[in-house]
Amino acid sequence: MIKNNTDILIYSCPSFKQSRVNNKISNNFKKIYKNNWIINFSKNKKVFVVTYGCQANYRDSEKVVGIFLYAGFKLTDSEKDADIVFVNTCAVREKAEKKVFSYLERLKNKIIIFSGCMAMEEKIVKKIIDKKMSINIVISINNIGKIFFLLKQHIITKKNIVDVNSNFFNVNDERLPNNFNFSNFKAFVNVNYGCDKLCTYCIVPYTRGPEIDRNFKDIIDECRKLADLNYQEIVLIGQNVSSYGIKHDTTFAKLLDEVAKLKIPRIYFLTCHPYDFSLDIIRIMKKHKNILPYLHLPIQSGDDNILKLMGRKYNSQYYLKLVDNIRKIFPDIVLSTDIIIGFPTETDKEFKNTLKIVQQIKFDNIFMFIFSKRHGTPAYNMVDNVSDAVKKNRFQILDSWYMKIIEEKNKKYLNNIYDVLVDGISKKNKNTLEGRLITNKIVHFFGKKSMIGKIIKVKITETHPFFLFGEVFSK
Ligand code: SAH
Ligand code: SF4
Ligand code: F3S
Repeated sequence: MIKNNTDILIYSCPSFKQSRVNNKISNNFKKIYKNNWIINFSKNKKVFVVTYGCQANYRDSEKVVGIFLYAGFKLTDSEKDADIVFVNTCAVREKAEKKVFSYLERLKNKIIIFSGCMAMEEKIVKKIIDKKMSINIVISINNIGKIFFLLKQHIITKKNIVDVNSNFFNVNDERLPNNFNFSNFKAFVNVNYGCDKLCTYCIVPYTRGPEIDRNFKDIIDECRKLADLNYQEIVLIGQNVSSYGIKHDTTFAKLLDEVAKLKIPRIYFLTCHPYDFSLDIIRIMKKHKNILPYLHLPIQSGDDNILKLMGRKYNSQYYLKLVDNIRKIFPDIVLSTDIIIGFPTETDKEFKNTLKIVQQIKFDNIFMFIFSKRHGTPAYNMVDNVSDAVKKNRFQILDSWYMKIIEEKNKKYLNNIYDVLVDGISKKNKNTLEGRLITNKIVHFFGKKSMIGKIIKVKITETHPFFLFGEVFSK
């Protein structure tokens, strides 16, 4: 039903309630809307796609690009040349949202399409409508097959349009043009979509809906295609890859085993949840040389009371025991984690329990986040009684503890030679290249552009907390 808000056409709006109902209805697009109008319209039109957020968004953007190319649009890597700017947004923290809005303010004279996780938020879409923001189309990523229909409506009626569908189904329909456009040597492959863990602070289960596994064979076929195309690295992605298969009598370990047999030089996966993490995954990692010895296992807090309030379904003892068992099977495994600082009611004592566990486990990498209130999540209504100053102070304390650990740990790299997959030109210094060790550590070095996308040997000559410096090694 179309609601006419004078100059906005509203087809549908997001609903957090609907987003948690796994009703496989509303398959809005069996095929992409494409007709003579769009074929004519797309001629000489250029599209610029901006991506915020995680690997899931990166992969969605890649699919969006595939759809625009299919209709005859050209891509551009400069927004200045673009007729259409497609903004794929992230909602995980307030900071991510602010970034998107400040970017939108700078865009002038473009058709703006707003999608991704912020487009799934009730409050954000209401704001866009109420403030009559100059965003031309708000569309959920699971409606993407309708994009050209909506574009036509917008051009004909000159009205802005909102069409966000919170009924999730197989969001990344296998029938979409499914190219890997962003890199010819590294690919993200979807394993499962959405999340059922419902951690109390997190918006992802509402913006991406219930956990839906992708078909086992479809995943393997896609990986095989990438292997045939000589891809050097595959990252298997999902909010919780570790719970893959539980509903369908298979497991992530089995999937990983099959993917590894395809002989792609490097495979890793993101992200696992400690609650349903099986040690079989570690056994499979140990079995195959081409699976990186790298595991990201978010702990979020080292305090049992806070873990309970977060709804994480495990306590600190459980996590410690799990890491212990993982290291028994795979002693050299590289372990990274996520930690949230300043969760509502977190006391100094509770924060110290996080410091304690960080000291005990000695993670190889920690991604730290200050708690951010997300509208619609249970933690939104908790008393956020930790002041900003205390949050910042705790952040700095954890940061310096971790820095000491990492400096010590990085020493082992010095003067050794490693296989490095060269990702590209370094973002910090245009004269150097950037690549990653099998432990996912970033290394900078001088080298030729022709090395990009290849695995080469690099000798480490300097260590810094967040990266290493090295030189190309030739015998
Ligand atoms: N599914 C993944 C990734 C979730 S988002 C996982 O569970 O690991 C990535 C990280 O963002 C989370 O691990 C968490 O540490 C952080 N995060 C999520 N919501 C947040 C919030 N409201 N405030 C601060 N950090 C948050
Ligand atoms: Fe969010 Fe928790 Fe799901 Fe991760 S596991 S996406 S933190 S709800
Ligand atoms: Fe952000 Fe959505 Fe990913 S909120 S972290 S882009 S799942």
